[in-house]
Amino acid sequence: MKLPDLGLNIDHIATLRQARRIHQPDPLEAVFIAKNAGVQQITIHLREDRRHIHEDDVARIIKSSPLPVNVECASDLSKGGVVEILCALRPHKITLVPEKREEITTEGGLNMRSSALAETIARFKHHNIPVAVFIEPDREAIHLAKELEVDGIELHTGAYAHCYDLLHSCLPHSHNAAQSPHTRQNLAQQIEQALQALESAATLAHSLNLGVFAGHGLNYENIAPLLSLPYISELNIGHSIIARAVMVGLYQAIKDMQQAIARAAAL
Ligand code: PXP
Repeated sequence: MKLPDLGLNIDHIATLRQARRIHQPDPLEAVFIAKNAGVQQITIHLREDRRHIHEDDVARIIKSSPLPVNVECASDLSKGGVVEILCALRPHKITLVPEKREEITTEGGLNMRSSALAETIARFKHHNIPVAVFIEPDREAIHLAKELEVDGIELHTGAYAHCYDLLHSCLPHSHNAAQSPHTRQNLAQQIEQALQALESAATLAHSLNLGVFAGHGLNYENIAPLLSLPYISELNIGHSIIARAVMVGLYQAIKDMQQAIARAAAL
């Protein structure tokens, strides 16, 4: 079985940097670690509000990355001059996503009937930059994507992942969990329905010669059922990997500081 490529979303490295507004941690450093670890693609999102990745990050990463760089951006041409910036920087791929100022992360898939979408796609295609659209696993959205002549679709796995986590993890007991209106049986059905929708969407998109990618909310537990779905050639994952990196890297980070202190004391 050919495994899907792993696209690592490194926005959260920049989120951590922006918490202090200094130079560390540097998302570009993460690109080289990702390359050494066997990641196939780097994903970054240049948002209108520049809450994490900034345009100089995009420029530095595109210039120095040994991996293809997929840049997510809003489909609305008016948002923060991002389309012009990215046409000039020429990433390997653009993924158009819906973007709202007040959201914590990308909510839902693109409205494929938006009037701005065709023009934004045409701008990138004019610069020979492949374009994917981030959509819900919905057949009509896939047909519209084909009509708009995009190169691929990224299927939003958020609904699937959220139901999976509500059923199988301690998420319902977290102080961040909203009250879930679902029973356990209901959640099991919803997971099944979400997987069927993803499978049918992936099959349709593949039959239309569109690249099929997927992502959002995927983690070390909910990834397994997704791997039985056909035609998905790329998974884009961010939060769960960066969250785990904090934990698996913490011991070494403490040891490095203790050594730095001991070395300085010995001078
Ligand atoms: N794919 C797209 C289009 C996204 O917007 C995001 C979140 O930035 C991801 C994948 C990664 O989602 P997560 O951080 O939940 O893994």
